Amino acid sequence: MQTSQRLNLFRESVIRDMTRLALKHNAINLSQGFPDFDTPAPVKEAAVQAIESGLNQYAITWGYPPLREKLAELYTQRLGWEVHPDKHVTVTCGVSEGIITSVQSILNPGDEILILEPAHDNFRPSAFIANAVPVSVALDAPDYRLDAAKLRAAITPKTKAMLLNTPHNPTGRVFDSEEIAGVIEVVLENDLVLITDEIYDRILYDGRIHQSPGSLAPLKDRTITIGGLGKTFAMTGWRLGYVIAPEQFALGIRTLHDFTTICAATPLQAAAVAALSMPESFFEESTRAYHQRRALMLEILAEAGFQASTPQGAYYIMADYSQLPIPQASLTPTEFAYFMASDVGVAVVPGDSFYSLEGYGRSSIRFAYPKKLTTLEQAGERLLARLK
Ligand SMILES: Cc1ncc(COP(=O)(O)O)c(C=O)c1O
Repeated sequence: MQTSQRLNLFRESVIRDMTRLALKHNAINLSQGFPDFDTPAPVKEAAVQAIESGLNQYAITWGYPPLREKLAELYTQRLGWEVHPDKHVTVTCGVSEGIITSVQSILNPGDEILILEPAHDNFRPSAFIANAVPVSVALDAPDYRLDAAKLRAAITPKTKAMLLNTPHNPTGRVFDSEEIAGVIEVVLENDLVLITDEIYDRILYDGRIHQSPGSLAPLKDRTITIGGLGKTFAMTGWRLGYVIAPEQFALGIRTLHDFTTICAATPLQAAAVAALSMPESFFEESTRAYHQRRALMLEILAEAGFQASTPQGAYYIMADYSQLPIPQASLTPTEFAYFMASDVGVAVVPGDSFYSLEGYGRSSIRFAYPKKLTTLEQAGERLLARLK
């Protein structure tokens, strides 16, 4: 019996693999991007109440109506066009499903999709699952700027779409207006569909404000905007995401979603309404706490001898270990990540696993810091004890 050839193109996620390694070595897990602090109490209570009140059967496939209404209200404001709950919103099982169904809905076998690297490890598989071809365009360390000339150089007659993630995992970049203007030009010149992954839209630093690319006039009718609740509300295990798309795309996305998962968990969708209705003070407090975590993580990494640039958004730091005064500084990123988990007791992700491009991500590892300050302090003690 043979498995499909598609499965020769990608393997299981390195990030999830690193979490298993962390468990094996009892290491502090700064590899996979999930918080070790809990979901807000009102949101958990709303889920319990939804279950108690009998919201335990399938929701309408596109999403529990009050959640779609809430999302339509939020995204009408954000995108500047009339987002209709019955036409444009699809609630998915996480952003991952949102990306996979969106990519499948617009690409034919052999079509090409531009993906910036380093990239979250779901992006390339989403193209392979659609029998499409991911075309990688590098963001170069240390500033990881998005270069429109590089995008243009990657265009072929088969290019149909581009996948853009901002705020960006793993670099922490929030692409600025000049970089987005470059994306707009390339998208329009080549009649592309833009798919945006905005899962970190509420985790921003230094007063930055998130602007959805799909709100910009030339992109409105050709952008599929994807968001999620897992990161913002510390509930990655609830698997809740959503896709906001113009009608010509939404119909296909809904059909694929329907036959893939039928619907996201109904009581959790009901509680998501409570999450999205949290007062502004919740978001302010979350932003304050993330500034603290970022500052502590950067301080620890600098003291331990890593080279790292300051994230503008999201909760990751790519750090270069080549200058550490230890023999392991010459290891490959995978070897170094194994050494970190087994000998240092801190699990991280090898930097080159975010690239398919040859020669990129050398001597780098990714730290995820959505953790209690005490967890980060403990990780700091281990790093300083072992790497100095
Ligand atoms: C950029 C990006 N997109 C998507 C995901 C996956 O999102 P979800 O857990 O909602 O499927 C992640 C998770 O780390 C991510 O960093």
